[in-house]
Amino acid sequence: MHMNLKRWKSFDKEGRDTTTRGEKVKAAAIPEHVAIIMDGNGRWAKKRHLPRVAGHHEGMKTVRKITRIANRLGIKVLTLYAFSTENWKRPKLEVEYLMKLPEEFLSTYLPELKAENVKVQMMGCKEKIPLHTQRAINKAISETAQNDGLILNFALNYGSRDEIMRAVRNILMDVKNGIMNENELTEEVFHQYLMTHGLQDPDLLIRTSGEIRLSNFMLWQLAYTEFVFTDVLWPDFNEEHFLSAIEEYQKRSRRYGGLKSEEQSE
Ligand code: FPP
Repeated sequence: MHMNLKRWKSFDKEGRDTTTRGEKVKAAAIPEHVAIIMDGNGRWAKKRHLPRVAGHHEGMKTVRKITRIANRLGIKVLTLYAFSTENWKRPKLEVEYLMKLPEEFLSTYLPELKAENVKVQMMGCKEKIPLHTQRAINKAISETAQNDGLILNFALNYGSRDEIMRAVRNILMDVKNGIMNENELTEEVFHQYLMTHGLQDPDLLIRTSGEIRLSNFMLWQLAYTEFVFTDVLWPDFNEEHFLSAIEEYQKRSRRYGGLKSEEQSE
């Protein structure tokens, strides 16, 4: 026990405990996969009498900050809901702006992501995304493919119902073509047909801005995920808020429908 404490605690010359909040969080159970619904950009901008897109731009800077912190904490996967299949309903100019953001983000921060061993991935339907955005994302994916640090997984033109429908259609086709036998269909096999194939399910979901709903995000994958909702608007979301969400997660008791181990023996 003493050895363990020594491993992550820091002390100054006088022997005072100088362990930071981040170090304490890192020493406890870190969620391996964190998914975030980044909400509140529009309200952040409105409060400042700025156009909505200014909120999205500020939100992009938060993406960079939270990615760096997640990587430092040893989180394995960070999935960010950047654009939903429903977001096409927004005004054309806002959609165009949102579609330019991945490009701006990657042209600014790709060197840093590479240096920090981050692996960029994307889930969502690529076809409808403008070519310039696709190119920027493909470049980042291929240039970081060999990295084995944090997986930064952008959900872009992503909708969970769309994902599940595509999976079902592909399964039906594979059964029809004799590639799969219908008796082989298990939860694990179904997962292979989802856009998160190869990734574990999220341990923690965070939604900012006070909205308490899933908005068609990872409906299958969030079955046993811990949810943390915060009133903070995404552009204001900082290290302290992120650590608070993880501390909240660390207080939860995950039972996956079973009992706590001490209850098993009662
Ligand atoms: C929801 O806020 C946010 C979005 C639809 C877009 C999220 C995008 C970013 C945070 C930037 C993405 C950056 C990269 C690198 C891809 P909202 O506009 O619905 O806010 P509101 O509810 O206050 O109006």
